[in-house]
Amino acid sequence: ALWPALREYWHPVAWSEEVDAKKPFPFRLLDEDIVVCRLGDRLAAFSDLCIHRGTPISLGWIEGEKVVCAYHGWSYNAEGKCIRIPSLPDDHPIPKRACLQTYQARERYGMVWVSMCDEPRAPIPECPLFEDPSYRLVLRDRWFWNASAARGTENFFDQGHFPWVHEGILGSRDNTKVAEATIKREGEVLHFWIEVPADATHAVPYVRNYSLSRPFAIYQRKEEPDRRNEVYLNVFTPNSAKKSTRFLLIGRNYDPDPSEAKGIETLNEIVVAQDRVIVEGQRPEELPLDLAEELHLKGPDALALAYRKFLRELGVE
Ligand code: FES
Ligand code: CO
Repeated sequence: ALWPALREYWHPVAWSEEVDAKKPFPFRLLDEDIVVCRLGDRLAAFSDLCIHRGTPISLGWIEGEKVVCAYHGWSYNAEGKCIRIPSLPDDHPIPKRACLQTYQARERYGMVWVSMCDEPRAPIPECPLFEDPSYRLVLRDRWFWNASAARGTENFFDQGHFPWVHEGILGSRDNTKVAEATIKREGEVLHFWIEVPADATHAVPYVRNYSLSRPFAIYQRKEEPDRRNEVYLNVFTPNSAKKSTRFLLIGRNYDPDPSEAKGIETLNEIVVAQDRVIVEGQRPEELPLDLAEELHLKGPDALALAYRKFLRELGVE
């Protein structure tokens, strides 16, 4: 039921440099094969299907400001309009219907975002610290999960799992209570923050501050009292109902010491692998938006409930 609404949001599909001026970049978004192309200074997204004989455009190549189909060499411009059919005599008009299905494509935070709708419901999520010169990117990574984007997103902000799934890294079993979160809804964004006391895994208390842009983008700030901040942008892009691509950026306003610079990647790989086993194993694969399904604890599951209601609105509008 969410599917039509999800087409009306921006989803990241690639790192900027993967979309080059040579080849179309293929991606499966919401059960549809698409390509993103850099055509001159324009970025264009199309359905991965040539109107002539249904050949994937991703088999073709880019020549300057046009993309060329591999089968019979038809060329399309950034508007998706066919501007050359090599088999026709030069004076013969090109059929008006010779167009690719186009989608919107934009770049932000070093990623290419696509919306399958002309008027998206919300802008690309605002993550100002990733554009702040006092912050540096310390990690950028991506994974393919056999899990729904909503299950993955809910796991990212689930507070109760840290001491269990990430014991010794993100949480300690000496400290398993979930602190109460403050939640504030602002249109398409759900803001919430949690004060985390010091424990065995973290020597100073800090605040976890989240902005969750519907449907699957989380911008998180980890704010320590001495103004050392770490920021995350975690987005799950739905390839299909049960497969998603997880994008993660981590930035900091302080210099990691050299020994730690390697540490963050290794540590992050461990954390992601720990979550992955859990989330890929959850059934049903799709996040139940009927709140009567699954069992919610008043207090610890308040964020999950707020998120499910937030998503649910999209299915009932
Ligand atoms: Fe693309 Fe013929 S199938 S040009
Ligand atoms: Co986790």
